[in-house]
Amino acid sequence: MNGLTVDSRVAGASPLLFTFNQPPQQAFTLAYPTTPVGHPIWQIPTPALVINPRKAVANYQAIQRAFPDATVGYTMKSNPNAMILDPIARLEDSWFEVASRPEIEVLARIGVGGDRVFYSNPVKQMSHIRAAIAGGVRLFAFDSASEVDKLAAFGLPLEVYVRMTVPHTGALWPLTHKFGVEAHTAVELLEMARARGLKPVGLAFHVGSQCVRPETWADALRTVAPAWAEARSRGIDLDLIDLGGGLPVAYTGPVPKPADVAAAVYRVLGETVPGAHRILLEPGRSVSASTSDMVLEVTGLAERPDGQTWLYLDGGVFSGLYEIPDGIRPAVRPILAEPRPLSMTTYRLAGPTCDSVDTLFEMRSPVELKVGDRLILKNTGAYVYGVGSTFNGFSVPEVYEASEWTLDMDEFPGIC
Ligand SMILES: Cc1ncc(COP(=O)(O)O)c(C=O)c1O
Repeated sequence: MNGLTVDSRVAGASPLLFTFNQPPQQAFTLAYPTTPVGHPIWQIPTPALVINPRKAVANYQAIQRAFPDATVGYTMKSNPNAMILDPIARLEDSWFEVASRPEIEVLARIGVGGDRVFYSNPVKQMSHIRAAIAGGVRLFAFDSASEVDKLAAFGLPLEVYVRMTVPHTGALWPLTHKFGVEAHTAVELLEMARARGLKPVGLAFHVGSQCVRPETWADALRTVAPAWAEARSRGIDLDLIDLGGGLPVAYTGPVPKPADVAAAVYRVLGETVPGAHRILLEPGRSVSASTSDMVLEVTGLAERPDGQTWLYLDGGVFSGLYEIPDGIRPAVRPILAEPRPLSMTTYRLAGPTCDSVDTLFEMRSPVELKVGDRLILKNTGAYVYGVGSTFNGFSVPEVYEASEWTLDMDEFPGIC
């Protein structure tokens, strides 16, 4: 047997092929798998966001299965592209969570009426409330007296639920401070809503996004329980609990499944919020993230005085990847056209603009990268589309449907 080499003509994620045809004197080398230039991943213009709509439905239905008696409202801000909204809208029993009038209008255009929508932004513009009511929305979150004034002004018995603050333990993207009230204020607000002709029906919370600790939902239910009990003792007939979003996505490692969160919830639901016959969920990230992958090109490399090798890409924070610097880090797959030996190299990834904020994360690549190579950033379907800007003149990623390019992005699992 002679020296060991690797057949480098292997596409994408294909396993390394070992051959034994080297002359004995040649060094033992392992090459990173190449992706032939004819592969569609090279044809697609970058920066690109490649969407697989089928995954949206699969993710949505997996959550429905885990919480069989819940109303699951897809939080459309996490990805309002039609490729995600349309297939979910076509499901008979699908609902949506909205935060603004334009979101309601988008849904109306694809045939989703207000009877399948709840409005969980606790602070709304008057004109947006008016449009929501005109569109048939009847379920609204609130967490302030001024919001009671706005909602009550329409003279309708709108169903309203109070957003409470809860612990965010285990959430990578906490949503603390901006919204939510403590128990005594929640009860006061429910009383106030009732006195103004609204119909107070429940409580809501959000444990923070990308929450990897199922027990945090149980903690949240224990936190809202005193307000629930006090309101019911005052004759306010609460029957709705909104468990928010927060279900995590497997970006760089395994995370709890919806069923794990459901198990934690159902263990305490009956004792914490007795009589909660209506359970709402508002998943965003867990429906949309895995639908999409971003394809970027390496545009520059530089050694800096800080000793780091910087790798510049044609997409970055201003392309919609704003969550990455704060810790929502996608797995990455380098794409190379020609063979190169394996060689572990650390890069500091940065976007194309001149702003130093436009810096992503440190990546340990199994191969040295060059200008013209590509990177696939996996699971970038949530809070990316619709977020980017053309700052510095750079375009936001163009959106493509995977099937239009005969691209199976699962062929490229993230490896670094
Ligand atoms: C009110 C509300 N509901 C639901 C969500 C969706 O959360 P996630 O994407 O973590 O599921 C968010 C996210 O910010 C939110 O603000």
